[in-house]
Amino acid sequence: MSVQVIIQKEVDVDGQIRWVGLASLKKDEDQTRILVFPHQGGFKGVALLCKHAGAPLTYSTISDDLIICPLHGFQFDLNGEYGIGFDVERHGDDFIIP
Ligand code: FES
Repeated sequence: MSVQVIIQKEVDVDGQIRWVGLASLKKDEDQTRILVFPHQGGFKGVALLCKHAGAPLTYSTISDDLIICPLHGFQFDLNGEYGIGFDVERHGDDFIIP
């Protein structure tokens, strides 16, 4: 079952557009705020708030494999077994979590 992301705002981070929105990440779960960003030719999403102390990841540094929180610099894998990222698809102006 795919999930529609409800985009709330668009942010320019050093020339890269990112989006903050709402989506239910698990079945029957309340919507949570997420960050969507371009990644390796597609789009990726993460929960908006950092797992360490809850800072927004909007202005984080993002590489191919890592997202680095701007508040204390904790690094989180985007991919793999412990990765916090998930794939997002863009269809026109809509974003979908497949
Ligand atoms: S709140 Fe993100 S590293 Fe501390």
